Amino acid sequence: MKKDCGYAAAEEVKDGQILGLGTGSTTLYFIEKVGMRVRDEGIEVMGIPTSFQSSLLAREWNIPITSLDEHEIDLAVDGADEIDPDFNLIKGGGAAHTLEKIVDYSADELIIIADESKLVDTLGAFPLPVEIIPISLKPVTKALNDMGGEVAIRMGEKKDGPVITDNGNFILDVSFGRIENPIEMEEELNTIPGVVENGLFTQMVDKVIIGSKDGVKYL
Ligand code: A5P
Repeated sequence: MKKDCGYAAAEEVKDGQILGLGTGSTTLYFIEKVGMRVRDEGIEVMGIPTSFQSSLLAREWNIPITSLDEHEIDLAVDGADEIDPDFNLIKGGGAAHTLEKIVDYSADELIIIADESKLVDTLGAFPLPVEIIPISLKPVTKALNDMGGEVAIRMGEKKDGPVITDNGNFILDVSFGRIENPIEMEEELNTIPGVVENGLFTQMVDKVIIGSKDGVKYL
């Protein structure tokens, strides 16, 4: 299902476009298929990565890399951890949401790709990732508790201690229960000193491509 929607999104890419390259186990198929189109059809595109992961994949597939200093983005394609009926998202399961938000929000068009398990009625079953400056751990935790959030610092696997993001920061996974007001919450969270970026993405998505047991669906 991830491969189906990733490959379908790659078919939306037009020759000459500057692409935002999302992060995760779904976007890796998008990058793979764009790489195949570069190789087999000779399309000329450039990618702006959202993580070391997408940067390495782009290099592997000979997709030239550029930056926001040099180019504006025509189309960004990214994954999601939850998608609500208004196309509000939770992202950051892979700790890449800060760069993803910069890239996705500056793109002319944003397509989200996901398998059908990511569609929800209300956001919040997936704990909300919040990237923070390490020295702000205590005050940010208190502020999030005051907002009704239960906070867990994300710990590394095969690495002692906390996950360190591509930007050198910590990730807090915050359980708020059902998030009824994602637009307001996205803004409010970023007013806490020490918060770099939260994983709520609201009012930005143009199209969602879902991989399902019955095939690819365009929402
Ligand atoms: C990266 O931090 C995330 O925002 C991913 O885009 C999101 O977690 C979706 O990842 P998968 O495609 O691996 O589920």
